[in-house]
Amino acid sequence: MKIRFNFVGTSGFGQKKEESAGEYHGLKKNLLRKNINSTHMKAGLESVKELKKLVGLENIKELVEEIIAFVKIQKKRELEGLATEPMVFHMIFKGNPGTGKTTVARLMGKLFKELGILERGHVNEVERADLVGEYVGHTAKKTREQIKRSLGGVLFIDEAYSLARGGAKDFGKEAIDVLVKAMEDYRNEFVLILAGYKAEMDLFLNSNPGLRSRFPIQLNFADYTIDELFKIAKIMLEERQYRLSVEAEIKLKNVLEKAVSNGHCYDGNARLVRNIIEKSIRAQALRLINENNFSREQLIYLQACDIKDIPSKIRNSNDNIIRVFEAQKFAVSGGN
Ligand SMILES: Nc1ncnc2c1ncn2[C@@H]1O[C@H](COP(=O)(O)OP(=O)(O)O)[C@@H](O)[C@H]1O
Ligand SMILES: [Mg+2]
Repeated sequence: MKIRFNFVGTSGFGQKKEESAGEYHGLKKNLLRKNINSTHMKAGLESVKELKKLVGLENIKELVEEIIAFVKIQKKRELEGLATEPMVFHMIFKGNPGTGKTTVARLMGKLFKELGILERGHVNEVERADLVGEYVGHTAKKTREQIKRSLGGVLFIDEAYSLARGGAKDFGKEAIDVLVKAMEDYRNEFVLILAGYKAEMDLFLNSNPGLRSRFPIQLNFADYTIDELFKIAKIMLEERQYRLSVEAEIKLKNVLEKAVSNGHCYDGNARLVRNIIEKSIRAQALRLINENNFSREQLIYLQACDIKDIPSKIRNSNDNIIRVFEAQKFAVSGGN
């Protein structure tokens, strides 16, 4: 079970809350567990329907069930005049590229809107360059601007670990300070999601202990298995009204197997699948033009010859080693 769902125990973002986050964990989990049943997933929420369509991601589907149950129960408790828990939903997403982080962030925005927690539910997707400026004072202004744009929705910071890149003197630190303050000032007005590679995010959070405790939800996005990648490919093709011939299915499975055995996980997961599919569609188009063959059947089916092997340059598993080395470098130079 990879879900970490330790709700923060007190209102506000002071020291007290940081200390109590752990001790509330078990209690909150029990409270939630008791009230979860499958009817929550059948609530007819659009976001839940979309989430269910995604392949795998079981820990995220389970978390969403918990959130829905939690919100419903808090509302019922409120009606009964019972004490309620603060609804703090800031999250950390850890995973390799193409594991569905951005897709899930968008669904979270939609979910929180449907649950009445966020007014708009939009996702403002940013990265370091959108937050960090080049001179003193510039960063705070830029970061505040992005927070303003995110109110009523989600502020999604991709590769958030890069905010700690240059250490204590880097303007990234200023951005973090502004974000932390906003988490307090606009507590109920936006959800902050920090995303990035697992190793980098762990180092980033370890070098910022005060930050870690402000995120009650931490989710791991695992690399997809070959089976899952194949299922994703089928869904992507279906959406585009294409099908695979029997031979093309075998070829695609082979290509995916090769990619996985060559350490595909840093090459894009589901994004890699999308690239293969789009490339195959272009190859089929060219083939049909050359063959001058435009029957409905031919337009629908991709053949084995349309499915291309992945060029070896994006199969370099050394990339990972280099990446982790870089991450350690910034962690060493990073401030607290
Ligand atoms: N579980 C899934 N099922 C179906 N498609 C997926 C799944 N995960 C990712 N995708 C698709 O793969 C692509 C990349 O996903 P994305 O959310 O951008 O990944 P990340 O943000 O982790 O890099 C998108 O087109 C997305 O729709
Ligand atoms: Mg992304």
